[in-house]
Amino acid sequence: MTSGAETFHLTGLAGLGADRLRELLTAAREMGKSPPERSLEGRVVALMFFEDSTRTRASFSIAAKKLGSDVFELAGKGSSASKGETLADTARTIEAMGVDAIVVRVSESGAPRGMAQHVDCPIISAGDGRHAHPTQGLLDLLTFAEAHGRADTFDLSGLTLAIVGDLNSSRVFRSDVAGFSQLGAEVIAVGPPSMAPGSLEAIGCRVERDLDAALEQADGVQMLRVQFERGAGTSMASVREYRAGYALTLERARRMKPGSVVMHPGPMNRGIELDHDVAEGPTEREPDLPRPIILEQVAAGVRVRMAVLQDLVMRSDARR
Ligand code: CP
Repeated sequence: MTSGAETFHLTGLAGLGADRLRELLTAAREMGKSPPERSLEGRVVALMFFEDSTRTRASFSIAAKKLGSDVFELAGKGSSASKGETLADTARTIEAMGVDAIVVRVSESGAPRGMAQHVDCPIISAGDGRHAHPTQGLLDLLTFAEAHGRADTFDLSGLTLAIVGDLNSSRVFRSDVAGFSQLGAEVIAVGPPSMAPGSLEAIGCRVERDLDAALEQADGVQMLRVQFERGAGTSMASVREYRAGYALTLERARRMKPGSVVMHPGPMNRGIELDHDVAEGPTEREPDLPRPIILEQVAAGVRVRMAVLQDLVMRSDARR
């Protein structure tokens, strides 16, 4: 069920419902087929990025501009947030200047949902703490569905995605589990107990310690970055030990199911969670390696963000 508050905001994928997910994914799929209409001509989209980003910030900016919108960027450093202004007050201030949507990345889990209670324009989480990264979840769904020929219906039943690594710190993991499970896929969460506690099963995945066992069943694997900036180094015995249990090495990749794909939300730590040769994909010498779709994920990000911006601004207009 889509909650009332989520009808013109996007602060997570949990509880959105399969119909709403398919509606957004279908719109994103169609964005790639013909040049987009400049449906947001004369509009302004605010990008409030209070944490670093390459992919999400650039693709929201490109998406908004492709739809004809202007883009206004605000970073934490150099804004009045550094003087202690609350996120709610910052959002109300930006909205009062006449923006049509606010995209926000912050370190506080759940902050976008809180901001949405204080403004009348769409709030879109571009990643908040460990809580959610909904447009990443959508672009992962779109890329995986396209790779497996399921983008006509976005019914993922019978398919399995393994998500590997530092799951407890990961907003991408939580949004992927929410999205993939609602569309019928099985999600196997793989990591050591310090990074993938059994309690994660409560959100709709199966926790597995043995990466090789998970890869035998998986139609795709999403390798997550070890988040040293969120303290992952302290919960890891050593990089060598971590790699032995949980890295997608060349040897492991060779044993993956035919037709399976390798995903990574980026940025990658090459040589830690993912071998360079696996990220680069099949070669003449290694023709049977699984296909990496990492840059396809990046490209899908623009289509997804175009679809989300257009959908939410139109919904917001309709209720005024
Ligand atoms: N996947 C992702 O959120 O990447 P950025 O941090 O570069 O935006």
